[in-house]
Amino acid sequence: MNVQNTQKLNGKHSPVSLHGTDEAMTSEKATDVAMQDTLLTPRFYTTDFDEMDRISVEHIRDEWDPLIAQMESDPNKGHFKKNEDWDHVDWDGMEPELKKEFIDFLISSCTAEFSGCVLYKEMKRRGSNPEITKLFQLMARDEARHAGFINDALREAGIAVNLGFLTQQKKYTYFRPKFIYYATYLSEKIGYARYITIFRHLQENPDKRFHPIFKWFEEWCNDEFSHGEAFALLMKTDPKLTSGRNVLWIKFFLTAVYSTMYVRDHQRPAFHEALGVDVDWYGQEVFRKTSKLSEQIFPITLDIDHPRWMPGLKRLQKASVAMDQAKRRGGISGTFGQLVNGAKAGFAFISLYTIPAKKHEMAPTTRLQPCY
Ligand SMILES: [Fe+2]
Ligand SMILES: [Fe+2]
Repeated sequence: MNVQNTQKLNGKHSPVSLHGTDEAMTSEKATDVAMQDTLLTPRFYTTDFDEMDRISVEHIRDEWDPLIAQMESDPNKGHFKKNEDWDHVDWDGMEPELKKEFIDFLISSCTAEFSGCVLYKEMKRRGSNPEITKLFQLMARDEARHAGFINDALREAGIAVNLGFLTQQKKYTYFRPKFIYYATYLSEKIGYARYITIFRHLQENPDKRFHPIFKWFEEWCNDEFSHGEAFALLMKTDPKLTSGRNVLWIKFFLTAVYSTMYVRDHQRPAFHEALGVDVDWYGQEVFRKTSKLSEQIFPITLDIDHPRWMPGLKRLQKASVAMDQAKRRGGISGTFGQLVNGAKAGFAFISLYTIPAKKHEMAPTTRLQPCY
């Protein structure tokens, strides 16, 4: 992306220096990072909004209405504001590697939250089905708050992601509605599992809470939980979405979402060390919770205790690091390195995808309550 095109958010910020003086993180650079579209970075999505607008919630109304009522009651209305619990953050005193990774975490989380906001808002804007547009308006409201709150935290470090610029300029990836359901349902539920796992860990280890934003995670993750519930119900309106050949797609999305999280989290060793979290433990814990929750609508879960699971993730992660290094090296050897390691990553993914899944019976009611 051309940095020249980046609109200035606020020229008065003093930029945070990540590696001494030569590599200062600025709002422009943060927006550049958010603009990236790779396999590992959050994307913006668009879909067939007309198809989604035709959904009828009539035969799931007994589960739908209470969910909408609960979201309309807006339990987190006043939550995403800094209050006396927001401790002072010593950005200058933060260890440079931790600061770099933590800022990367905040930018990536902000982009992911905002990606949801953009998609949901668009559905609200384009649709005419009152049930569907209501739901998407409520979810867009939440995601806008989440992204805004993270941006507030970044602003204290003198940087902010230019969300208006992203809306206009970031590439939109088209997904058929059913793929939006699988991907978004999983990202909401895994988001819940990630936030609550960190929150519970820091409840037990408050000395590891190096930033106040983690105190907000408990109520926050309940929003993500509700969003996941909504997508589970949307899938329930059409049983074909969770049966037959679509089960192979569900398995694909489960494998892709879990392995992407594993690879991405391993890019932030200092961040996890500061939290006192073993990344492998954290990954498995989040997968276990997400799998348990996803039994509400998916007829299969991945066997994350299979002997091929962890070695497959590790191979994928190693190949991803090697691909990145080859890309930075450039030239013929770089291209060759990218091809070889791309193939290795592909084989590792196939090895993960072909692990036999666990099948289970579906319960007649879908709705769950946050339980972790
Ligand atoms: Fe969110
Ligand atoms: Fe969400």
